[in-house]
Amino acid sequence: MSNQLFTNIKQLVNTRPDSRPLFGKEMSELPSLDDAWLLIEGNEISAFGKMNSLKKDLPNLPNNQMDCSGRLVLPAWCDSHTHLVFAGSREKEFVDKIRGDSYAEINARGGGILNTVQKVNATSADELFNISWKRLEEVAKLGTGAIEIKSGYGLTVEGELKMLRVIKKLKEKSSLQIKSTFLGAHSYPMIYRENHAGYIKEIVDEMLPVIAGEKLADFIDVFCEDGFFSPEESETILRAGLRFGLQPKMHVNQIHSTGGIETGIKLNALSMDHLETMADSDIVYMKNSGWKGFCTLLPSAAFFLRLPFPPARLFLNSGLAIALASDYNPGSSPSGNMNTVISLACIQMKLLPEEALNAATNNGAFAMGLGNYLGSIAPGKMANLTITSPVPSLAYLPYRFGSNHIDKVIIAGRFIV
Ligand code: NIG
Ligand code: FE
Repeated sequence: MSNQLFTNIKQLVNTRPDSRPLFGKEMSELPSLDDAWLLIEGNEISAFGKMNSLKKDLPNLPNNQMDCSGRLVLPAWCDSHTHLVFAGSREKEFVDKIRGDSYAEINARGGGILNTVQKVNATSADELFNISWKRLEEVAKLGTGAIEIKSGYGLTVEGELKMLRVIKKLKEKSSLQIKSTFLGAHSYPMIYRENHAGYIKEIVDEMLPVIAGEKLADFIDVFCEDGFFSPEESETILRAGLRFGLQPKMHVNQIHSTGGIETGIKLNALSMDHLETMADSDIVYMKNSGWKGFCTLLPSAAFFLRLPFPPARLFLNSGLAIALASDYNPGSSPSGNMNTVISLACIQMKLLPEEALNAATNNGAFAMGLGNYLGSIAPGKMANLTITSPVPSLAYLPYRFGSNHIDKVIIAGRFIV
């Protein structure tokens, strides 16, 4: 596609002249234009305006035109936390949990993350690529245009490198913007259960040098949690990542508050993710720290695991920045549907639709280091857009949960749906 004009757009959503993350109260402002047109040239947004000035603004109309009467046009979703590369499924554990087993019990008997680790290590790189490619196509159809994907189901040098090379190939072949995160510290593998120092040494001395050498990751992450990585162990690993140029992210305060928040702030983590279980002191600490990273909230994981939902309103009242992401993975969120995530954020965390939209677009893009290229409607930004079916209003999207309102998806200037 060269030039494409969209006309009669009921509402062009998240039009921002400046590119910056949104904090606290700012998140409730969602600048939009009613009765609008939008022009894309090549893979970029080139201009937009009101329909009543179209003739004056664009004297030469391109041949490619689409009438968007009754429809909203939005930036495509920016899903900044996923584990989309995995093998197999875990519906047996799902049923075990319905029958009463806890997350901790399932982990202790080698289920949970280690169950998927076995399956990933038994799957070839080609097969892993093919099943991950299908998932990427699935989420793109649901409106996701940019996505972060983590390793963390290999937990050996060979297994982690295999996962990261699969992510690299997805980056090369897909038109979606993809960021890669090294999560070797997702769990201790069985053979290192009693020898934490041994596994950390393997991460630092054997995995990181190759990852940096082959440029296999943009970020480093750890699962900081009781029974997984302590704040001190997390700090050692994240500092090693920093030495190799990888900015830290963290899985933290999902089930317990263990002191990891302080680690994230000390290391200036780009995002701290989950945050379902927050001590009052954690919030006060975050608020007073001056930290400018993202609280990445994963409501579909809280929903699926029956955890309390993160206190989103408290984060906003404390002036913090929220991003929303799917956490797509076989154990805690076997869905990468960002539309569901946005509905859950509004229904269960009481985000306003405007706040949820900003968290899933503008702030999601910044939480992946892509905020200057994606996440809002501005000339020069990448044309990653969704066009809804005809709908009465913006709030209708999260309100009518469970239905798909995304009718068309444009990634880097091309229709993929
Ligand atoms: O983000 N909490 C740690 N990691 C994933 C779950 C991974 C799994 O259960 O396979 C999460 O929820
Ligand atoms: Fe996760």
